[in-house]
Amino acid sequence: MRFDTLDARLGARVSGVDLNRITDDGFREIHDNFLRYGLLSFPAQSLSLDGQVAFSRRFGDLDIHLLTQYNHPQYPEIFVLSNIVVDGKPIGIADGGSYWHSDLAFQKNPAMATMLNAQEIPEGAGDTLFVNMYQAWDDLGAEWQERLLPMQAIHRYRAFEKKAERGTQVNLTEGQKAKTPDVVHPVVRTHPETGRKALFVHPGMTAEIVGLSAQESEDILEMLFAHCTNPRYVVPYRWKKGDVIIWDNRCTMHSATTRELPPEKRRLIYRTTIRGDVPH
Ligand code: SIN
Repeated sequence: MRFDTLDARLGARVSGVDLNRITDDGFREIHDNFLRYGLLSFPAQSLSLDGQVAFSRRFGDLDIHLLTQYNHPQYPEIFVLSNIVVDGKPIGIADGGSYWHSDLAFQKNPAMATMLNAQEIPEGAGDTLFVNMYQAWDDLGAEWQERLLPMQAIHRYRAFEKKAERGTQVNLTEGQKAKTPDVVHPVVRTHPETGRKALFVHPGMTAEIVGLSAQESEDILEMLFAHCTNPRYVVPYRWKKGDVIIWDNRCTMHSATTRELPPEKRRLIYRTTIRGDVPH
């Protein structure tokens, strides 16, 4: 197996492996590099759905997405990202998240990792954007770091929609709403495996900082959001059919760019989400 840097800020491209046939030693090497690079891309794979579920399970337990209408009918662990409509019925969620977020940060146990397996990719569209949140934290400067360290923030499912920012509206059922109460996480988390600190606030999900006035909370969050979405941190991932990527949600955030993707630009990606621990 070979690991080549994808971008100096984040990620490595992995060659010399067939993800349908991973050995225990191979997995250890992948896992070490997942921690080192924060995102791994495996180009030109033909990873089956059974293979994706099995490979994902090596990282940990899998989440069943609460928007069950978009889960694969035969594989509930697979959340279908797609703008394809068959017989008038969408086969997946057309826009899985064109806003900055870390997967499942609206839950007590946010996702540890997310794996995407690209089946159909439109030419020149539908990139996924990433930010390395270790780097965003490291660059904040000692004064801000000291101030932010004790802070906690409220995370809310699709918080940005309440601020009237445009986005794909997802109408949750009462049952789904009941599964998404507000949760509180530290503003900076310590990665449980690398021990490094990473900023853990995300424009699409972090609603307010606990214990501050509304104005002070908004001022700090706006400053942090402007900081971590600065173009100097944004790493676009340009998809190719057959790509499988996995990223570490504990030290990255991401945004899809599928909000305006026209239906003729067909995109189909299978997602699995690996559960994580409570951030500290
Ligand atoms: C996601 O946020 O999980 C989806 C990313 C994408 O569709 O590009």
